[in-house]
Amino acid sequence: MSNRTFTMIKPDAFSNGNSGDILSMIERAGFRIVAMKKTWLSADKAGEFYAVHSARPFYGELVEFMSSGPIVAAILEKDNAVADFRKLIGATDPSKAEEGTIRKLYAESVGKNAVHGSDSDENAAIEGSFFFSGMEQW
Ligand code: CMP
Repeated sequence: MSNRTFTMIKPDAFSNGNSGDILSMIERAGFRIVAMKKTWLSADKAGEFYAVHSARPFYGELVEFMSSGPIVAAILEKDNAVADFRKLIGATDPSKAEEGTIRKLYAESVGKNAVHGSDSDENAAIEGSFFFSGMEQW
């Protein structure tokens, strides 16, 4: 799975009308969309996805935000996918994100930051299988 990563386009990107532009940036950067689905997470599901952050002070806000509107979940493929995708999206805090990155262009704040990208091959596999099954054969 080292050539794959997992992303979510977050509710702020939909309410701001940026989801299409973001998907287009992802494809233009050379990522192949292996699997993709638009869905709306319940608070329970959002809490489960971000359980690793459950002790953090922002957890409640994160769960509320991620269940406040639709998301797109997708598995992406490219050489060096995890690192290259994190470069494309930029720093978690958009005020620290490099020019030209997705978060610099489209994120509002550290919470409403337009996109998620997995931080390791291991988490990419775990997060992808949260939304999709049988991906090993694709
Ligand atoms: P993401 O890459 O989806 O992974 C965890 C998310 O927690 C992160 O993006 C942010 O949206 C959110 N997050 C991290 N730090 C904060 C914070 N200080 N306040 C609110 N949300 C945060």
